[in-house]
Amino acid sequence: MREAARSASGAMSENRKVHIKSFGCQMNVYDARRMADTLARDGYAETASAKEADLIILNTCHIREKAVEKVYSELGRLRGMKADAESHDRKPIIAVAGCVAQAEGKEIIRRAPSVRVVVGPQNIHRISELVARANEGHAVVDTEFAVEDKFEQLAPPKHEITRARGISAFVTVQEGCDKFCTFCVVPYTRGSEASRPAARILAEAEGLIAQGVKEITLIGQNVNAYHGAGTDGRDWTLPKLVARLAEIPELKRIRYTTSHPRDMDDELLEAHRDIEKMMPFLHLPVQSGSDRILEEMNRKHTRADYLRIIERTRKARPDMAFSSDFIVGFPGETDRDFEDTLALVREVGYAQCFTFKYSPRPGTPAADLDAQIPEDVKSERLYRLQELIETQQHEFNLSCVGKELDVLFEKPGRHEGQIVGRSPYLQPVPVIAPKSIIGSVARVRINELRTYSLIGELAGNEPVAPAEYSSPEVNALA
Ligand code: 5AD
Ligand code: SF4
Repeated sequence: MREAARSASGAMSENRKVHIKSFGCQMNVYDARRMADTLARDGYAETASAKEADLIILNTCHIREKAVEKVYSELGRLRGMKADAESHDRKPIIAVAGCVAQAEGKEIIRRAPSVRVVVGPQNIHRISELVARANEGHAVVDTEFAVEDKFEQLAPPKHEITRARGISAFVTVQEGCDKFCTFCVVPYTRGSEASRPAARILAEAEGLIAQGVKEITLIGQNVNAYHGAGTDGRDWTLPKLVARLAEIPELKRIRYTTSHPRDMDDELLEAHRDIEKMMPFLHLPVQSGSDRILEEMNRKHTRADYLRIIERTRKARPDMAFSSDFIVGFPGETDRDFEDTLALVREVGYAQCFTFKYSPRPGTPAADLDAQIPEDVKSERLYRLQELIETQQHEFNLSCVGKELDVLFEKPGRHEGQIVGRSPYLQPVPVIAPKSIIGSVARVRINELRTYSLIGELAGNEPVAPAEYSSPEVNALA
């Protein structure tokens, strides 16, 4: 017999299944997990199959036009699946969460009437209540920016779920953005910058670490602008928060993303210099190498400012590698501007990058500019930029061959006896090693590069530390 569970409305409901499909950034991955944790209280177990789900949530991204189109085509597909389920006497609920939900609101229900719940990123803590109302036959839209602290109301993950998710976890430390780059919808969909109090972040991190998490990535749209209330009554900065987290002995690695060049201050660079657990890998989007375009984008930094930050970061941490985001074909971008971008890429030398064609977003200032760039020019520039970046990525990966790198081991690999970990630069590193190595950091001699993986062997003969963490759930992730 299926177990009964208490639902948000207090009524008893049968155990049900939820399928969440997330698009876009890490913030969405985090939000999807927290929605799953909150719905677990109502008896919803997660399933990888949309077909068997009683609740399907599309957790959407609005950053580029294609992302929105993807949501509507996905909804078209789900409509067929829902009709099929209904002919078998099942009534799955379809919900749209995330930034498309925020931006489009009830327009989603108008265009896709099979959708019963539309919930913005600031309201996901109300998911249980919204789903309960949808189950009663209502269509509900909740996109008002909530005044209460959503993080306080989202449920923490059950212990076995944290363990099943593996040894690396995200923790949101701030949300939203006050920078208003002229191409970007984030200030409108995620709202203005808000930092969580340090005590709550630490409590969440400690809960994860107690269940075997060894690496935490602090996430936020403007994570290095973090300024949350500290445990000492003062506002804490990101480096202060990282320093406090680094004191937890079981936590081996700390990362943070995404940063804005304007907020890369001395204190953060000193933290990179002094805190061994901070990984030497920085995602620092620049968007363009042309001062004229940076100005038009309202980035509030110049090309020279950015290059200076890179230089100072390398000084603080010589083994630092960099990644960035680039937009090609921003309105008014000339061949000369684009050449400036290529030159900046050559000057920095990236380990990896994300590249995008400019996509006009309704309501943002750049969408109204006259000098929109033709699609074929954007495509050509994207191709050239990607070619350069791929060469750099390959060179960076090759430069790791012959070195010894610290690897945090995560899960069994595809081949017998293999365990896969990640280098400080997030490259996958498969190694022949005992399962007990999962959850610990060991030095690996890198012998070969195979596509994007670094193939290596454990360096030295020191015995592998006894398993601090090795659960069947994690092993099942392979
Ligand atoms: N068009 C193309 N790319 C965009 N990004 C944000 N808005 C747009 C847009 N309108 C990219 C930026 C940002 C990343 C998350 O998405 O490069 O850093
Ligand atoms: Fe968007 Fe710019 Fe804010 Fe990043 S800094 S979220 S690109 S407005």
